[in-house]
Amino acid sequence: MRDIRVALWGFGAMGSGIAKMIASKEGINISGVCVRRDHLVGQEVYSYLGIDRGDRDPVVITNKIEDIVRRDLCDIVVLATDSFVEAQFDKIMFCLDRGVNVITMAEEMAWPWAQNEELADKIDALAKMRGVTVLGTGINPGFVLDYLILALSGTCEHVESIEAARVNDLAPFGKSVMVEQGVGISVEEFDRRMAEGSLAGHVGFPESMSMIAEGMGVELVEIEETRDPIITNVDRKSAHGEAKKGHLAGVRQQSYGRLADGKVFIHLDHPQQICPEDEGIDTGDYVTIHADGYDMNLSIVPETPGGIGTIAMVVNMIPHVIGAEPGLRSMLDLPVPRCILGKYSEQIHRKGDHRYKNGELVSVEKVILPVGERAPQVPDDTKRTPLRAFTKGFLQEESAKRGDTVTVRTMSDRLVEGTLSGRSISPAHTFGGHVPELTAVHRQVFELMFGGESK
Ligand SMILES: NC(=O)c1ccc[n+]([C@@H]2O[C@H](COP(=O)([O-])OP(=O)(O)OC[C@H]3O[C@@H](n4cnc5c(N)ncnc54)[C@H](OP(=O)(O)O)[C@@H]3O)[C@@H](O)[C@H]2O)c1
Repeated sequence: MRDIRVALWGFGAMGSGIAKMIASKEGINISGVCVRRDHLVGQEVYSYLGIDRGDRDPVVITNKIEDIVRRDLCDIVVLATDSFVEAQFDKIMFCLDRGVNVITMAEEMAWPWAQNEELADKIDALAKMRGVTVLGTGINPGFVLDYLILALSGTCEHVESIEAARVNDLAPFGKSVMVEQGVGISVEEFDRRMAEGSLAGHVGFPESMSMIAEGMGVELVEIEETRDPIITNVDRKSAHGEAKKGHLAGVRQQSYGRLADGKVFIHLDHPQQICPEDEGIDTGDYVTIHADGYDMNLSIVPETPGGIGTIAMVVNMIPHVIGAEPGLRSMLDLPVPRCILGKYSEQIHRKGDHRYKNGELVSVEKVILPVGERAPQVPDDTKRTPLRAFTKGFLQEESAKRGDTVTVRTMSDRLVEGTLSGRSISPAHTFGGHVPELTAVHRQVFELMFGGESK
């Protein structure tokens, strides 16, 4: 099977980390990188990152997304640009329109139905129409304060309530996160931004809460959120953030999900700051599930690393997204996230993936003219579609599955190489379904010709 081709949209702390991880793996390649910063445009990705390219093709950084997001060039786009569904919407629709899968780390996309149901429905509809999949994931939301809790709860007969905390270090994250978290601002600015609602803080509590509630079949009637400044007593500095003594090193955010009787069913606590070790604060992830008569406790100390954790969650979910049912999906729909040590391309398991055998009549696909090389006079929608040839022939390999590069021998004895398409070799067209208007016309014609209904 050919290597998975990944286009990266956004090349900050997470996007560039994802590129490095992909470069260290087998069966997966970077096919393109799109940035906003001009000084990166034209640079070769592997040399920019200071890593050995080996026998991989060079990849030149661009700021023209249309040059890299094309079905004939990439299988999936990783979006590492921003946090909110509204900001992501046009970008995701752009990728779907070009028939490409999407995996995004935007926090609100982990459960986009929580606050943006209408946009989520539009994404879902277009993804289904184009036969591709969209997933939002990350370390949190996407794993620690939602997925992990749900997985643990699977061992319980009953759950009374849940308490979970993530005490983490923001240092690995980029500029966007520092701004959203108010790292380095004064207490007065924190108060002002809180009053005007311009401090994003941790994005994703409504999404994590809704994922847990939906996953367990519980109705939360209220999700309350509180925020308190974490004021540093020493100067702190990370790669992308700086907090002087007396200023904000981060924000402690808590959320309470209540049931109809007012009881708190879920309490999430998330103090986030840069360099907590500078003040002797230990990081960690903690979950307590109050089950029926006993407590179940999980601690991960120190915290699941936020930067590596996000990068790995995104990269490790790539084959599962490509193999998933088309549509907008969540972590609850896809296989268990796990570290892939073998070939990524071999972890794509499509439902009902059929193995074709040697000598079987199959259809292979080959791109004759990719988008960008189509004749200038053709209509715009044709220009946006690669010209593909499908050839029927007898499979030469011992066995193969859809997506593998194979050779077929045609009826006229030609050997043709291409991608095994899974397309039916029999005609699939019909004369269409029942059309009520035509039944009415049929009756009218009989009335006119014979003065009554046909027998
Ligand atoms: N779910 C999770 O667990 C999780 C974990 C980590 C991060 N995140 C989220 O993921 C996002 C990325 O994080 P990060 O740490 O990598 O942030 P970052 O270092 O600030 O990187 C974001 C990058 O995206 C670029 N960008 C923005 N809009 C773009 C566009 N239209 N075209 C091309 N590039 C564009 C920015 O370019 P400029 O430099 O030109 O602005 C920046 O380089 C953030 O919103 C963060 O909150 C989520």
